[in-house]
Amino acid sequence: MPHPSDMSEPSVPVVGVPVFDLSLLDAVEWLRGLQNESVDLLVTDPAYESLEKHRAVGTTTRLKHSKASSNDWFTVFPNSRFAELFAEAFRVLRPDTHFYLFCDAETMFIAKPEAEKAGFRFWKPLVWDKRTIGMGYHYRARYEFILFFEKGKRRLNDLGVADIIAVPRIHGGYPAEKPVAVSEVLVRQSSSAGELVADPFMGSGSVGVAALRLGRRFAGTDLNPQAVRIASDRLREFGAGREPDGLPPAPQPGLLELTDSPVSEPTL
Ligand SMILES: C[S@@+](CC[C@H](N)C(=O)[O-])C[C@H]1O[C@@H](n2cnc3c(N)ncnc32)[C@H](O)[C@@H]1O
Repeated sequence: MPHPSDMSEPSVPVVGVPVFDLSLLDAVEWLRGLQNESVDLLVTDPAYESLEKHRAVGTTTRLKHSKASSNDWFTVFPNSRFAELFAEAFRVLRPDTHFYLFCDAETMFIAKPEAEKAGFRFWKPLVWDKRTIGMGYHYRARYEFILFFEKGKRRLNDLGVADIIAVPRIHGGYPAEKPVAVSEVLVRQSSSAGELVADPFMGSGSVGVAALRLGRRFAGTDLNPQAVRIASDRLREFGAGREPDGLPPAPQPGLLELTDSPVSEPTL
């Protein structure tokens, strides 16, 4: 069965070639296994430490008790690891490429200088406008940032695209799942057909779906075996690919649980 958020979208048929390659590894460990300058575009959405802070101060009571909430589900990636993450991201990207980082307003001020230290040029935050308000008590949340970085110099494919991407949020999907349509804008702008798009925190694989729909290849990892299962099931709709051994069956929506991660070898 296609993932619910993929069903209304056309697919790009790719026959016979592995078009995706998934791992069940820590993001940095996985990036370390990739060759220098082997990736054409990085789009990613880490599980930020700020999630823990919101939980600790009790502003997210509704999230705390929800089975499908990201607080029940995510292993958080600490801010103290940004330096190693961005150093590896910079190393694996080819010269003249782009890097997009989904980011909340708080983490943006920490992530931006760390990525610049690794060598990236920061252009601007793009805004994902979710079209409807969400949680919070002060100016309820309706947007997320997507930090736009560059390694070397690459021209966007369409200079007429706005810096606000308005796409409704996903309801009832993977926790913190991003709409494929948002990643499609980024993939279309910053890569060409046949190029390799990577996501080291892939969750349900929305970046991968965008990449394959647009005729790119995809490589991704996540620490959570259920995330890798969901991503693999979605991506197989577009062609053959590699997934790690021993993945669990797909979880029922709303019954996602935090699990320890077994380890697999990177295959790219
Ligand atoms: C915000 S979610 C990504 C959601 C994804 N963009 C989507 O559309 O479904 C962040 C993901 O990072 C994963 N994660 C947390 N720490 C990680 C780590 N050290 N390495 C790899 N993945 C990690 C979590 O399991 C979670 O699936």
